[in-house]
Formats: sequence, C-alpha cells, structure tokens
Amino acid sequence: MKFGLRERLVATYLILAILGVGGLSVRFALQEKTRIVDATEHELEVKAFTIAAAIGSPLEKFAEDELPYADFKRALDRLARTAEARLTVLTVRGDPIYDSSIDFRQIENQRNHIEVQQAFQGAEQHQIRRDPISGETRLYAAAIIQQESSPQGVVQLSIPVAPMESQIQREWLTLAGSALAIIAVIVIASWWLARYILRPISQMQAAAHSLADGHFDRRIPDKGTDELADLARAFNNMAAQLSEMLTKQRLFVANASHELRTPLTNIKLRAETLLDGAYSDPTVSDKFLRDIESEAGRMERLVKNLLTLSRLDIQTEADTLMPIKPCILLKAVVRTFLPQAEQKEISLSLACNGLPPIRGNHEQLHRVFENLLSNALKYSPPGSLITLSAADSTTEVVFTISDTGFGIPPQDLPHIFDRFYRVDKARTRTADPGGTGLGLSIVQSIIHAHGGQINVTSQPDRGTTFVIRLPKAS
Ligand SMILES: Nc1ncnc2c1ncn2[C@@H]1O[C@H](COP(=O)(O)OP(=O)(O)OP(=O)(O)O)[C@@H](O)[C@H]1O
Ligand SMILES: [Mg+2]
Repeated sequence: MKFGLRERLVATYLILAILGVGGLSVRFALQEKTRIVDATEHELEVKAFTIAAAIGSPLEKFAEDELPYADFKRALDRLARTAEARLTVLTVRGDPIYDSSIDFRQIENQRNHIEVQQAFQGAEQHQIRRDPISGETRLYAAAIIQQESSPQGVVQLSIPVAPMESQIQREWLTLAGSALAIIAVIVIASWWLARYILRPISQMQAAAHSLADGHFDRRIPDKGTDELADLARAFNNMAAQLSEMLTKQRLFVANASHELRTPLTNIKLRAETLLDGAYSDPTVSDKFLRDIESEAGRMERLVKNLLTLSRLDIQTEADTLMPIKPCILLKAVVRTFLPQAEQKEISLSLACNGLPPIRGNHEQLHRVFENLLSNALKYSPPGSLITLSAADSTTEVVFTISDTGFGIPPQDLPHIFDRFYRVDKARTRTADPGGTGLGLSIVQSIIHAHGGQINVTSQPDRGTTFVIRLPKAS
C-alpha cells in the first residue's frame, strides 16, 4: 500500500494528538482519582472524629449504667444517619458494642485492623478492604473516644467504595469523551490543512506533466501571498522562460537551415548548369567554379560560427578565465588586420597604455575584437578611420572601437546582436566576404559570459562606436 503526502501528514498529526492529548488525559484522570479518593477518605475521617467527640459522654454514662442501652443505641442511630455511613462502636479492647446496620454480636473483634490500631495511637489511617459479613468492599476510618484524656473506645466508620468508584468512572468517561473530541477536531483540521497545502502542489504536478508533454502554455493559479503562491509564481515564470527559450531555439534552427540552404542551392544550381554543358565554355565554367568555391567558403564560415555559438551556449564554467593584458590583446588583433586595412585604404589607430589585466579567456576575447574590427573594416568605405582604445575605470576596463563608416540605421540598432540579423541582407551577403549575421551575437555571448557589457551607438553615414566593459582581474 502506498501512502500519499496527505495520508502521511494526517497520520503524523493523529499520532501527535494521541500522544499529547492522551498523555495529558491519563495524567489528569489519575489526578482526579487521587483527588476523589483523598476527599472521600478525609470526609470519612472528619466524620469519625466528630462522632467520637459527640459520643464521649453517652458512652461513659452507658458504661456506668446510667444510660440504658436502648437510649444509647437511639442516640448512635441518629448520629449514623446524619453521617450517612455505617457506624460501629468498639470497646478499648476492640470488641463491638454497637453497629448501625447489623447486629453487633455478629462482628468479630476489630483490634487488629489498621485504622483501629492507629486510632488508639491518636493517629488517623484509613483502609479499603472486604467486609466479611456483606462481602462488599468498603472504606474504613476510625477515631478514638476519649473522656478526660482516658480512652473509652473507638468509633469505626465505613462506607462502600462502589459509589466513589462509579464517580471516578463517570469522570474518566467525560474526560475520554473530550479527549476523543479534541483528537477528532485535530484530525479533521489537519485533513483540511493537508488538502489546502497539497492542492496547489497537485496542480503543479499536473502542470509539470503537461509541460513535459510539450504544453508550454499551461499555467497554474498563483494568487496569494504565502510560500505556495510564491512557488506557483516561480513555476509559471519557469514555464514562460522555457516557452520563450523554445521559441528562440526553433527560430534559430529555422534561420540556420535557411542560411545554409541558400549557398547550397547556389552550389547545386551552378553544378547542374556545368553538368548540362556549360563546363565547355571556359569563361562560364571558371566563374561558376569560383562561385561554388565562394559559396562553400560561406557555408564553412556559417557552420564554424554556429559551432562557436552552441559551444558558448553550453560553456558556463569560469575555470578557463585567467588574467589578460588588454593592450597586448588589442595589439595582436590590430596586427592581423593591418594588411587588410592598408588594402582598403582605411587607417587603423590604437590607443592603449599600461592597463591592469582583465579576467578572461584569451581565445574568446581575441575573437570579440576580431569580429568588431572585421565589421568596422567591412562596413566602412575607403578613406575611413578606425580607432581602438582602452581605459581604466574603477573596477573595469573600458574598450572603445569606433569607425567613420556607413553606420547603422536607428531602426536596426536594437537588433544587430540578434542571431542572423543583418542590416542590409542583399548588400552584406554579396559583399566579400559575405556576412552570416552571427558575428555580433557571438561577441555579445562572450562578453556576457565574462560578466561584461557591450553597447553600441551609431549614426548613418557618420560611423559606429562599440563600448565594451570588462571586469578587472582582482
Ligand atoms: N561597424 C559597423 N558599421 C556598420 N554596420 C555594422 C557594423 N557592425 C555591424 N554592423 C551591422 O550589423 C550587422 C550584424 O553584424 P554581425 O557581425 O553580427 O554580422 P555580419 O558581419 O553580417 O556577419 P559575420 O560577422 O558573421 O560575418 C551587420 O550585417 C551590419 O549590417
Ligand atoms: Mg560581422
């Protein structure tokens, strides 16, 4: 048998309630019993004392034959009635001379009973025992009868214990009833509590299952201020993010396939034309083969960039980070672009001096400046100026890459870090080398992975400036 959370919760409450309420009840029941028994005993002893004090002189008179037994008996009968107990009067030797309920001659000597012995000592003591004549269990108490401090006899009082026991039993039943009622209330309350707590959890469980089945639009009620509502909100948030991630991923795959299909189609078309006979014309075949080579190169770059991006997506560990000197890094990148810049008649300038190291992955940061410089060169006409600089700013190093090139239209500016986004697809794709639209998204991924920031400002036909902030190695 499998127990759910609710059953376990209720069972826990039940066990706690039984232990707590039950334990308290038993304690209280025992106390009540002691209290009732003590009170009854005390009452009987007090009565014995009162009667002992009252019959001192009638007993003396009766002993001296001044009072006839019948009168003596009548007086004692009255006392026994008011005391509501069986009254026995004993001589100093313990022999009964009166009993309120039976003929005293049937009663044997009482000297050896503890309450009688103690009464002679002037102490009080009671005892519960079986009465040999009636067979009933009774409570006995006794008190000494004294006249001018000489003992005359002993008063023995007794009552049946049955009424006292039934009183105790009644009290115990009431107590058990209340204890059961309290336990029942606790169980019902815990049942409701468990339902209240577990309802959102089972809703979440169902939602998680449908999420796993691909229903990303599934949400659960998250109204309220308690922890469960917080949990529900976190869950909904997670579902929303998953959904967004999935949409992005689908878009990415769609874009990637599209981008790959275009050069493939171009290659296929040209290959087919060549096979159809165009290869016999040297000028056409030469051009087509060059086209094929260039499209293949484009595909190669595309696949390389895609691989880089997916690697950046997976990579989260910071263990490859080490101190890097900004100026050495920038110098190395600039050096690789010098021939290209010279060819395009673009001047490249670098301003960097004695900066503290930053924390980073050398290869990745190299790629960042490579991509930015290649963009600046690609999107600037001959005669432009490209400036690189780095400066110290409290906890960061700030890099600036400016060009005086074509610039980016304001409506495109928010999208240039998106994957596959190109401002003018027709122009950039045919430009040599054709862009994939992945360069800046790779740059942004790397900068974010380094805990840095990248911002861009641009004015069409005036130029573009990228500002990168990277934390210093502490
Ligand atoms: N310095 C710049 N000046 C003008 N436009 C730019 C500049 N840098 C980027 N852009 C614009 O932003 C777009 C996105 O740049 P990104 O580097 O991501 O792709 P790409 O250069 O087209 O392709 P890839 O870098 O993969 O070869 C470019 O197509 C270009 O239109
Ligand atoms: Mg680029």
